[in-house]
Amino acid sequence: MRYACECLHEGEEIKEINIGLLGAGVVGSGTIDLLARRGDQIARSVGARFAIRRILVRDPLRPRPVPIDRSLLTTDAASILDDPSIDIVVELIGGETPAVEYIAGALRRGKHVVTANKEVVAKHGSELLDLANRSNVNLFFEASVGGGIPVIAVLRHDLIANEITSLRAIINGTTNFILTAMEQGHGYEDALREAQRLGYAEADPTNDVDGTDATYKLAILSTLAFRTNVRPSQIEHFGIQRLSQKDFQYAAGMGYVIKLLAAADAGPNGIAASVRPTLIPTTHHLASVKGVFNAVLIDGDQVDKFMLYGRGAGARPTASAVVADLCAVAHNLQRNVIDRVDIVQHRLPVVDFGDTQSRFYIRLQVADRPGVLAAIARVLGDNEISIASVMQHETDETAGVAEIVIMTHLAAERRMATALTEIGTLDVVRETSAFIRVER
Ligand code: HSE
Repeated sequence: MRYACECLHEGEEIKEINIGLLGAGVVGSGTIDLLARRGDQIARSVGARFAIRRILVRDPLRPRPVPIDRSLLTTDAASILDDPSIDIVVELIGGETPAVEYIAGALRRGKHVVTANKEVVAKHGSELLDLANRSNVNLFFEASVGGGIPVIAVLRHDLIANEITSLRAIINGTTNFILTAMEQGHGYEDALREAQRLGYAEADPTNDVDGTDATYKLAILSTLAFRTNVRPSQIEHFGIQRLSQKDFQYAAGMGYVIKLLAAADAGPNGIAASVRPTLIPTTHHLASVKGVFNAVLIDGDQVDKFMLYGRGAGARPTASAVVADLCAVAHNLQRNVIDRVDIVQHRLPVVDFGDTQSRFYIRLQVADRPGVLAAIARVLGDNEISIASVMQHETDETAGVAEIVIMTHLAAERRMATALTEIGTLDVVRETSAFIRVER
């Protein structure tokens, strides 16, 4: 073995594993701090001590939230990637480029990689895992989904004997915080401002609120769960920006909450995956996931339903996942093995989302006059969509406007979209205010 050794206890040999860290932001600083505080304990448990040898940063003079030996800082990635003494590259800079080049470069040079980068893993994960296999090194990415929740390890190892048929997840803490606040009566803008004030939402919250962040995470989970490559571009996604307080009130009255649900199913026709606001019965396991918490509900043919719940973001939970990956690399080094992931390209097709079925919730502003409900019901009927319930409220008697809320039975997404377009052209319909999937 090429690792330096030290003896912490009499007769016990602790190997030293050299780390090159890319990034010393929130998660990078959290990882440095955690290794400093728990290094001895971890060394005793795994028989290896992690020594951070160099840290890539953009600005070496920037103040950091934790004590960092400034002599380790560099602005030159090559000084880490080309250093033969570095065993593991830990990539925590985020974003697609240059992170993907750094990761691929490290793997090609025979270095193990630990990353928290959901965008890179979602878009390039299966190629990078192939490259890791060919280079006979490990690529771990526990921190890329669900922060401190060990869901990647569960899918890679613990559920390996299962055929997984379904995933349901709340995997974006920012949006779950906002939706929980809206459930409690706040408007979208107020809830977003509060999330920003508390540091849960970024100054530009677009990637979280439009569903992109959750889509990356669902692509990673689906790819591992179904052992077929699911790209973010194949996942139907909608954000939470257009949800109104009214929808939460109607949903509550009918026994539902609204969540940004990441859902993926593997059926006989292939995989259907989506991230979108969804009405969930208050009795559903995911309905009780509040605030910034995340949860993943997995359906495996051997274990049946299985749920993981915890903090999906933040320096400490995410650093916990990074350090767990480092320990997994250390274990593999001791046994001289690597972790392979069996992902078959196109093992299952990703189905057109229009062919999938759901119940739907629709809220419309309509003219309050005879025949309006009948006209809407006719369009739904013509598209073979059956109505489960209807509510109508007079909203403005003088203007003759009413609000109608319709819940449908199971209907194909494509038929529903056609029906909504037709409903939108009826002269009695002023506005389609909401169109939300309903989870059973
Ligand atoms: N922005 C993410 C969230 C955290 O709100 O869950 C990092 O993945």
